[in-house]
Amino acid sequence: MMMKLSIPLMLVLGCMLSVNGQTISGAALKTQIRSNMELAVTQYKLLDRSVPADRMPQHFDEKTGKLKTSDITWWCSGFFPGTLWYIYEYSKNADILKAADARLKLMEPMKHFTGNHDLGFMMYCSYGNAFRITGEPSYRKTIDTAAMSLATRYRPSIQSIQSWDSSKNFTCAIIVDNMMNLELLTWVSNNGGDPRFRDIAVTHANTTIERQFRPDNAAYHVLDYSLANGGKLLRKTTWQGAHDTSAWARGQSWALYGYTVMYRMTNDKKYLDQAHKIAAFILNHPRLPKDGIPYWDFDAPGIPNVLRDASAGSIMASALIELSGFTKGKMKDKYMRTAETILTTLSSETYLAKPGTNGGFLLKHNVGALPLKGEVDVALTYADYYFIEAMLRYLAVK
Ligand code: GLY
Repeated sequence: MMMKLSIPLMLVLGCMLSVNGQTISGAALKTQIRSNMELAVTQYKLLDRSVPADRMPQHFDEKTGKLKTSDITWWCSGFFPGTLWYIYEYSKNADILKAADARLKLMEPMKHFTGNHDLGFMMYCSYGNAFRITGEPSYRKTIDTAAMSLATRYRPSIQSIQSWDSSKNFTCAIIVDNMMNLELLTWVSNNGGDPRFRDIAVTHANTTIERQFRPDNAAYHVLDYSLANGGKLLRKTTWQGAHDTSAWARGQSWALYGYTVMYRMTNDKKYLDQAHKIAAFILNHPRLPKDGIPYWDFDAPGIPNVLRDASAGSIMASALIELSGFTKGKMKDKYMRTAETILTTLSSETYLAKPGTNGGFLLKHNVGALPLKGEVDVALTYADYYFIEAMLRYLAVK
């Protein structure tokens, strides 16, 4: 795929080589990121205008031109307010602040939600950022309540937080994505809240290391348990991956990000080691494209003629920038260089929307749940959220 870079990028010298295109770094990438963030202000004003005041954006399909919205119970509902807060933090734009505030308030009732494990995504990406930026004490209370709600899903017999309720598909499913909800729990305990939340998070993270990885350190998507008889592991399987034992790309990104966060929150080297192992699986994988954006599953039949998942790339970039900060020497550079490659690729015309297009989202070409034919090759809220987070992290460290 020929990669065309946007105008500010082409104007900047000092490009570095990558095989499928260009990787820019340092001042050149910062210039590109500033341009992307200006685009984010414009795009997210458009997106905010397009979504009814009591709803959240869910996805935009370029092929049909349709914007799908969700109610606040959808697992992704917190990403739109969270992204608006990030954009506000960068831009200080008054319209974006108004939108961030209004969409945040919509999320408040979800602090009592106990129907699945997604409270971290919903409440920490939204209220966590809002509290970090504003220090508003009532937001802190909301975060505490959300952690309490999430903790109700801890199941001692399997030493894990139950992801999904029992259904015709699963008895008691634990999905690797659950690693992303542990930041909410550990943050509350680390900041004067109930220490039990951190214990639960640590236990869950330890169980996941023991049971949810292949010998090559790729994560299985789903473990299904019986809660009866002391919690028997029934099977290792998938829901969104290519097959039961495949390495679903976004699952690997969630795992990488989750263990990097757990190291930050606990200082326990076991989590840093796990993050390095996951990074090694991803970065040394012969089927990771040179431009850094993974195919939707590392084991998808038909590679290279299968879809890429930009969301897996954006989550990975954000995680690698943080992990690079915990790493010394050659690997530190390798993590940062890979993040730079991903951010360069996501800034190309292939992935980055032109102003006024893509329904107001930033990134194109994300894959939600391909085997379920859900949200395939569309714009998605979480791809934008982690893209923006990665760019802001880059600006903060470079
Ligand atoms: N947590 C669901 C997903 O990553 O699609």
